Amino acid sequence: MKVFAGNSNRLLAEAICNYLNLPLGKATVRRFADQEIFVEIQENVRGEDVFIVQSTSFPTNDHLMELLIMIDAIRRSSARRITAVIPYFGYARQDRKAGPRTPISAKLVANLITEAGADRVLTLDLHAGQIQGFFDIPTDNLYAVPILSRDVKENYDLKNVMVVSPDVGGVVRARALAKRLDCQLAIVDKRRERAGESEVMNVIGDVTGKDCLLIDDIVDSGGTLCNAAEALLKNGATSVTAYITHGVLSGGAVARVTSSKLKELVITDTIQPTTAVQSAHNIRVISTSSLIGEAINRTSQEESVSSLFD
Ligand code: R5P
Repeated sequence: MKVFAGNSNRLLAEAICNYLNLPLGKATVRRFADQEIFVEIQENVRGEDVFIVQSTSFPTNDHLMELLIMIDAIRRSSARRITAVIPYFGYARQDRKAGPRTPISAKLVANLITEAGADRVLTLDLHAGQIQGFFDIPTDNLYAVPILSRDVKENYDLKNVMVVSPDVGGVVRARALAKRLDCQLAIVDKRRERAGESEVMNVIGDVTGKDCLLIDDIVDSGGTLCNAAEALLKNGATSVTAYITHGVLSGGAVARVTSSKLKELVITDTIQPTTAVQSAHNIRVISTSSLIGEAINRTSQEESVSSLFD
C-alpha cells in the first residue's frame, strides 16, 4: 500500500501515515508559472494499492484539479488500484436539481473523479448520503459521529445535555448522536430566504435550562450555526456548544464564531485549520486520522469498513 497527498491537507495525510506506520509517498504537486498544476510521482507505484488523500476544500477548484491530475499520473504509472481519499468532499451542496436550470455539481464531480481513473472513493460525512450513488465505483462514506460522541463524553456532563439539529435536513445526523449519548433531541426550524443568508424561525422541543449541543456536517459562513445558537439561548438554553465535522469557515466565519455566544465550536481536521482557526479562543479541532487510517487499512486488507461503526 502507498499513500500520497495533494496540497489540501498534508497535516492530515501525515497523521494518517503515522497511524499506518508508513512514509507519505513522494510526489511533487506544484504550479507552472501560469498556475496550471504540475504533478510528478517520484516513486514506483507499479502494482501498488494506492491511496490519494485530498480534501476538495478551499481553493476548491485547485484542489479538485490536483486530485484529478494525481489520479491520472498514478493510473498511467500502472498502480493496481487507486482510492481517492476525500476527507471533505466539496461541491456536495448542489446534489439535486433544486430549481430550474441548475446543475447537479456533486454528480459532475463524481463523474470527473471516476473518469480520471479512481477505482474507489473513501470519504467522511458526505453532505447527503445519496451522493455515494453518484459514483459507479465502490464508495465508503465514514461517519464522524463516533469521534464526536467520544469527545462529548470526555468533555461534557451528559446529565443536562440536549442534542440539537440546526435545521430540519440535519435531523438524521443529530438523532444518531443523541442515540449514542442517550440524550434528548431538539430541532431548529431554519428558513433560508436567500442563498448565503439564514434565518432561524422556531425551536422544536423544550430547551429551557439545557446545555445544547448543535451538530451539523458543514460550518461555512457560520450563519446557520450562530443564528441557531441565538435562537436556543433566546428559548432558555443554558449554554450552546457545536460539533461540526467540516470546518469550511469561509470569509469572516471565524470572527463570527469568536464573537458569538457559542461556548465552543468543535470541528475535525478534514479541512486543514487556518492560523485564524488555530488561534480562535472558542474553536477546537479534533483529528479524524485514526478513523481514516483504519478505514484505509481495512480497505487494503479487504476487511469490513462498516464494522468500524458497530
Ligand atoms: C446545510 O444544509 C448544511 O448542513 C449547513 O448547515 C450549511 O452548509 C452551513 O452553512 P453556513 O455556515 O454558511 O450557514
